[in-house]
Amino acid sequence: MTARLLLSLVFFKFSLICFLSSSYVYAEIPVFACDTDSNKTLASFNFCDTTLSFTERVADLVKRLTLEEKITHIIDQTPAVPRLGIPSYNWWSEALHGVSSVGHGTKFSPLVPSATSFPMPILTAASFNTTLFESIGEAISTEARAMYNVGKAGLTFWSPTMNLLRDPRWGRTLETPGEDPYLIGKYASGYVRGLQQLDDEDRLKVAACCKHYTAYDVDNWKGVERYKFNAIVTKQDMEDTFQPAFKSCVTEGNVASVMCSYNQVNGTPTCADKNLLSGVLRDQWKLNGYIVSDCDSVDVLFNAQRYTKSPEEAAAVTINAGLDLDCGVFLANHTLKAIQTGLVKEVEIDRAVTQNFNVLMRLGFFDGDPRKQRYGSLGPKDICTSAHEELAREAARQGIVLLKNENKFLPLSAKSIKLAAVIGPQANVTHDMIGNYEGIPCSYITPLQGLSEHVNTIYAKGCASVLCPPENLHLDDAKNAAAQADITILIVGANRSVEEESRDRVSLLLPGQQATLVSEVANASKGPVVLVIMSAGGFDISFAKSNDKISSILWIGYPGQHGGAALGDVIFGSYNPSGRLPITWYPESFSENISMTDMRMRPDPSTGYPGRTYRFYTGTPIYPFGYGLSYTTFKYSLLKAPGLVNIPTGTACLFKHCQSINATSSYCNGLSFQVRVRVQNTGTRPGADSVLLYFTPPHVHNAPRKQLISFEKVYLEPWEAKNVVFKVDVCKDLSIADEEGGRKLALGIHSFQIGNLQKYIVLKPSL
Ligand SMILES: *[C@@H]1O[C@H](CO)[C@@H](O)[C@H](O)[C@H]1NC(C)=O
Ligand SMILES: *[C@@H]1O[C@H](CO)[C@@H](O)[C@H](O)[C@H]1NC(C)=O
Ligand SMILES: *[C@@H]1O[C@H](CO)[C@@H](O)[C@H](O)[C@H]1NC(C)=O
Ligand SMILES: *[C@@H]1O[C@H](CO)[C@@H](O)[C@H](O)[C@H]1NC(C)=O
Ligand SMILES: *[C@@H]1O[C@H](CO)[C@@H](O)[C@H](O)[C@H]1NC(C)=O
Ligand SMILES: *[C@@H]1O[C@H](CO)[C@@H](O)[C@H](O)[C@H]1NC(C)=O
Ligand SMILES: *[C@@H]1O[C@H](CO)[C@@H](O)[C@H](O)[C@H]1NC(C)=O
Ligand SMILES: *[C@@H]1O[C@H](CO)[C@@H](O)[C@H](O)[C@H]1NC(C)=O
Repeated sequence: MTARLLLSLVFFKFSLICFLSSSYVYAEIPVFACDTDSNKTLASFNFCDTTLSFTERVADLVKRLTLEEKITHIIDQTPAVPRLGIPSYNWWSEALHGVSSVGHGTKFSPLVPSATSFPMPILTAASFNTTLFESIGEAISTEARAMYNVGKAGLTFWSPTMNLLRDPRWGRTLETPGEDPYLIGKYASGYVRGLQQLDDEDRLKVAACCKHYTAYDVDNWKGVERYKFNAIVTKQDMEDTFQPAFKSCVTEGNVASVMCSYNQVNGTPTCADKNLLSGVLRDQWKLNGYIVSDCDSVDVLFNAQRYTKSPEEAAAVTINAGLDLDCGVFLANHTLKAIQTGLVKEVEIDRAVTQNFNVLMRLGFFDGDPRKQRYGSLGPKDICTSAHEELAREAARQGIVLLKNENKFLPLSAKSIKLAAVIGPQANVTHDMIGNYEGIPCSYITPLQGLSEHVNTIYAKGCASVLCPPENLHLDDAKNAAAQADITILIVGANRSVEEESRDRVSLLLPGQQATLVSEVANASKGPVVLVIMSAGGFDISFAKSNDKISSILWIGYPGQHGGAALGDVIFGSYNPSGRLPITWYPESFSENISMTDMRMRPDPSTGYPGRTYRFYTGTPIYPFGYGLSYTTFKYSLLKAPGLVNIPTGTACLFKHCQSINATSSYCNGLSFQVRVRVQNTGTRPGADSVLLYFTPPHVHNAPRKQLISFEKVYLEPWEAKNVVFKVDVCKDLSIADEEGGRKLALGIHSFQIGNLQKYIVLKPSL
């Protein structure tokens, strides 16, 4: 008996050790170099010496590697170098809106089963709140470091996606912050600052990556695939549309990496474009970080695009262009031959590995055990905290956009409603709320669950799936539910089977029979109807806009793990909606008339081409960029703005009429003025308002019809007023791109708009 007990105790202890060693001991060890605690010899390497500068340490490391070893460090899955105490490393982790399971670097496990899943960027951008962009980034960096410390994530995250949304049919709309270069720049730089937590010593908490560089927003449209797409882009559109947000990301966000895209721009694959990589990113914008290819894009430019004759030439053209890291194996396989045949010099490989190692140095990867360093105390307890979950819900609240609200139907008073019908294919979805590049969320609160916290509900799907083919339409249950209830809340829209990476849309109408479902249910409904659209890209919902039975319309993007709770907060008025559309919602004829592959931003009246985005589109949108209602009203009054700004053009424009001059230092550097506006909440509910400042330059150089140059979100109690001061930098904010992609300052009458306020300011040449 005793013997058996003893034996089973021994066995128990043994299995406990096995259990610990398999799931805990291994799992708990982060990957790092220079483990001088367990091997004193490593301390003799200068690259492990934390008292030296990053530059000295990286140079020492690079010097110790053979050419073959260096070549294994220009791809994303690098092997160990045991003789130097360097472990293998996976560069590819993702954190688009929370730590993601996409990529080789990150793994959820029983130790870290989940991470906070914030709304998709398209909804977060709608908050127009730069503090929020940064707060989300910071919360995610904490969860990322916590996962790294227990061996569950890398330190290099290939996020954010921040391409400008030129066409709402793009499948990756959900990943983007919208269509405006200024907003995207603010989003990307804010999010990157939050993630990276860059300090004065150039150290990073985690490394971010702005992608996909550049002029990329076609994935798979009517057979045109991103892998072969050649974007024909004018110099002017490049300068004022596709490049500005990347510039902000590098110069204001100090991002540690940029990813080049699959597509070609004007015949050159972006990852092989020396001007775009070495010229612009490295030399002009001073990128302090590494340039990485999109996954297998070097392979793609050889095998799919046939851009070079041999694989060595493909390796050479990308490395020589300035590429530092290949997501894939192509460069590992073909670089040696490229060097041996004289196509690439070894100094270029040194340059690439130097950039890569420098980022790892700045992350503390070569500083020994990270659990004894600055972020060493972070662990599973810091993931899915109530503060992070609340921030995810808050982000969704701040982004949700109120598009229609007849007779101030919303917010609803829960007390006056006995029963609410909640109807639609998206009414009780979980995973659909977290979009793509997702991780495993801490928990979900679906729309039905969020609404049921406030009132009694009766639920009917109406359509068995989001694609809603005729055979999936179940009108009877839906109409019966609507006929019994005091109000009806319809939740329709899209998910990734409608719009996602590699899946562009061909139509802007609601999928399948959804519009029939909405109209029929609205008609059968006893009470008023609230229509909720879950989607990234907009829809032509003219039929609902004009339907009197539909009192209110809300757009909720893909609102993240607790999106349903945020919807409840908005509908029942504990939060007053303040989001504004980050993209234009076009009529369906846009998708019928315009090829998605046409990259031109500017309208062409001679062919009826209407142009793209609010900056150029000449047609009438369903809802415009920046649109969004509140439960209260705001009044703007102009406090201060100059009528005239002298531009010291000197003799250049003195005796002749200049329409514009170069926006160079001598004419406008340091020149700025203030636009001061008073915003008052003139209603009875507290609320936040995003104050957007646009300007319209004179009609020269085919300039944008209007352009956002600043915004600020303010919170106001009933009747409270606050002053908002915008500083307008003449060179930076008011210059426009000319036809050759140069920066010009238009002279003459500029119009500035804030809501319904308009102010003319004349830029006048002077001595
Ligand atoms: C310690 O590091 C040195 C240098 O990398 C290496 O040669 C040696 O094998 C290591 N010793 C152990 C016990 O791992
Ligand atoms: C790279 O080399 C490995 C090993 O030789 C091979 O299995 C793989 O197919 C190669 N990949 C490419 C893209 O050339
Ligand atoms: C709604 O979805 C949740 C989460 O998947 C599920 O637990 C619940 O049963 C669903 N409710 C209804 C009424 O189908
Ligand atoms: C989209 O929703 C449908 C049901 O409406 C579901 O079958 C499908 O799995 C969802 N797609 C994705 C990618 O989540
Ligand atoms: C609305 O319902 C009524 C009967 O309830 C029906 O007569 C009418 O045709 C319906 N209208 C629409 C547009 O479906
Ligand atoms: C599409 O073309 C038709 C016919 O020319 C025109 O009426 C409509 O306004 C166009 N739509 C857009 C969005 O340009
Ligand atoms: C404006 O810039 C262009 C291109 O840099 C230059 O050729 C031209 O001389 C400049 N003009 C003036 C008036 O400074
Ligand atoms: C902006 O977001 C931050 C972070 O969530 C929040 O504290 C702040 O109240 C928001 N600002 C406004 C005006 O809503």
